[in-house]
Amino acid sequence: MSIEDLESIAQAMVAPGKGIIAIDESTNTIKKRFEAVGIENTEENRRAYRELLLTAPGLSEHISGAILFDETIRQKTRDGVPFTELMKKNGIIPGIKVDKGPVPLAGFPGDVVTEGLDGLRDRLAEYVKLGAQFAKWRAVINISDENPSSTAIEANVHALARYAALCQEAGLVPMVEPEVIMDGDHTIEVSYEVHEAVLRSLFNALYEQNVMLEGTILKVSMVIPGKNCDEQAEVEEVAEATVRVLKSTVPASLPGIVFLSGGQTDEQSTAHLNAMNHIGPHPWPLSFSYGRAMQQAALKLWSKDMKANYAEAQKTVAARAKENGLAALGQWNG
Ligand code: 13P
Repeated sequence: MSIEDLESIAQAMVAPGKGIIAIDESTNTIKKRFEAVGIENTEENRRAYRELLLTAPGLSEHISGAILFDETIRQKTRDGVPFTELMKKNGIIPGIKVDKGPVPLAGFPGDVVTEGLDGLRDRLAEYVKLGAQFAKWRAVINISDENPSSTAIEANVHALARYAALCQEAGLVPMVEPEVIMDGDHTIEVSYEVHEAVLRSLFNALYEQNVMLEGTILKVSMVIPGKNCDEQAEVEEVAEATVRVLKSTVPASLPGIVFLSGGQTDEQSTAHLNAMNHIGPHPWPLSFSYGRAMQQAALKLWSKDMKANYAEAQKTVAARAKENGLAALGQWNG
């Protein structure tokens, strides 16, 4: 696959008014989401729930792609159609989470590093055969008085860059995701500084590993105070700080930037994205790749009555896609 092919996939992922739905929860993470609303974590429930989301009428009007988990990319609809086939038919680009999650970084209490590079070349080749066109790897950066260490930042961006190079070799667009975690009592200024350090190191690492930015998407957290910080920030403040840090660290050749929701409410995640696009234009499209902020309302509805609420849950996820699609254009009216 040529760089032009990767570039056109990346551009389609951030087409105007469109964003990504992240449904790549690992079996353990979906267990937490299901348990919170009283759903049993069986393979059939996971399959049925992902089918509900992927077949929601009208979803593809505002959704360009979906990130799947290893189990999900192998699953089919109740009628036997592979999810990836259905997605391509509906114009939704299949993506796949390929990291194996964060583990404690030895020698640096409180810091974590994401694993999953061993054997990645072979796994990527299989995912391409299964229909994936982009991949995702998430690095987790914790904030506390002692974290993150510069060693943790370096270890995580090195892995992100190695992963991105392998993706491009395999013909997949790498979505590189450094997530600065919202837990803690840190201020918005501290969040800004950590994002700045992480993004500077990340783009250095991508350059060192010969990653072509034109065929890469950045997925990142917003610059936001810690959940337990006494001073929370206004929507405009978050938007302004996030855009400022991105402009000072992210090359304009990148085709697009998408955000994770990271524990924000549905309303906050949409309002922040809308406010950022409102103060544009920016060098790149700014859109969404939300997991919880796309799904949580629909999941709650479905959990109350899987049969009776099926259609309503589908409408709910499609409505969240529409709201976030409008926010990606700066046209959401609250
Ligand atoms: P949230 O939007 O729920 O943070 O999930 C997005 C994601 O893919 C995190 O890796």
